[in-house]
Amino acid sequence: MKYREFGAGGIRVSEVCYGTWRYANPEGFADERSREGAAALREALQRGVNFVHSSHEYGTRWITGDVLRQYPDRHELHHIIKVNEPDFGELRFDRRKFRAQIEDALRELHAEHISIVQHLQRGSVSKDIAYTAAADETRIAEFRETADDLREEFTRLKQEGKVQALASFPYTFGFAREAVTSGIYDGLVAYFNVLETEWLDLFPAMAERGMGFVGIRPFCAGLLTDRRVDRSTLAEDDRLRTPNWDGKYDQLNHIRNELDLRPKSWTEYALQFALMHPLIASTAVSINSRAQLADVLSATEDSYLDKAQLEQIHRLNKAHLRMD
Ligand SMILES: NC(=O)c1ccc[n+]([C@@H]2O[C@H](COP(=O)([O-])OP(=O)(O)OC[C@H]3O[C@@H](n4cnc5c(N)ncnc54)[C@H](OP(=O)(O)O)[C@@H]3O)[C@@H](O)[C@H]2O)c1
Repeated sequence: MKYREFGAGGIRVSEVCYGTWRYANPEGFADERSREGAAALREALQRGVNFVHSSHEYGTRWITGDVLRQYPDRHELHHIIKVNEPDFGELRFDRRKFRAQIEDALRELHAEHISIVQHLQRGSVSKDIAYTAAADETRIAEFRETADDLREEFTRLKQEGKVQALASFPYTFGFAREAVTSGIYDGLVAYFNVLETEWLDLFPAMAERGMGFVGIRPFCAGLLTDRRVDRSTLAEDDRLRTPNWDGKYDQLNHIRNELDLRPKSWTEYALQFALMHPLIASTAVSINSRAQLADVLSATEDSYLDKAQLEQIHRLNKAHLRMD
């Protein structure tokens, strides 16, 4: 396992961050999927993964906590947790709720500290438009109004030794620009994969400020894997059959045709792509079985820095999305 620094704050994480969204039953029921997920997490820790992504919204902390409670080196791990405050429909940042999400996570994960708090500024905008520029004006105005409260409460938690770094999950490029220049955040946490590269334009400004980046979903929710890259072979009830994935498959076909891209394995290529830029500390990937873990770990064994390819795909993504 290779390790990288998140920004300039001395947090050294494994390139693979174990994403805990899909790996267990969210109802707290120890079924076959949860047992296999737990075995995969245990093995990942033994093989050097030291970074775990979790959220109170996934319903899987019950099993993550169970595995970690029995893991002797749990205090060496780095946790990144989602903290949504204000949540959708709430107007103002509430210090008490922000703190409670962090203290609950510490207890549930049997952790002494959270390395990266991934803050989601939601607020009064509707969930349906959160990922669109239409939400920017409102979200930025609401963020500015209570940014001092966020800064103060985070500083207090840091002095108590409960947290290390604060990062923004920006939803949009417009909010990301605000987050980078606000002086409040130590970095960004955002989707980053072959089809989602927009943050690259902010990397120079982030590097100048010593900020870090954690990528999420290197497989674009599974689309960029050998199993799902050809949509016609998917089962009728596969989640990537739904129309909201049409645009992403079109975008991928465009890139494949333009570059005549035919990697030996899409699973391997996608994982390596997600780690191509040195500012990216790690990629949070859902690993649901020991077989998936084996593929993910073997993909990270090679060296894979090819910035020319990264820039080429980024240009194609931008041109394609402008056409949509
Ligand atoms: N807003 C946020 O903060 C946010 C949003 C989304 C995700 N996340 C975090 O990021 C993590 C990853 O997100 P994600 O699950 O959406 O995307 P992803 O990691 O890009 O895709 C994961 C899916 O890829 C498939 N997969 C994994 N390894 C594979 C392999 N070796 N071969 C073939 N298929 C493989 C699995 O599909 P199957 O399901 O079929 O096993 C898995 O569910 C989550 O667990 C969560 O921690 C955070």
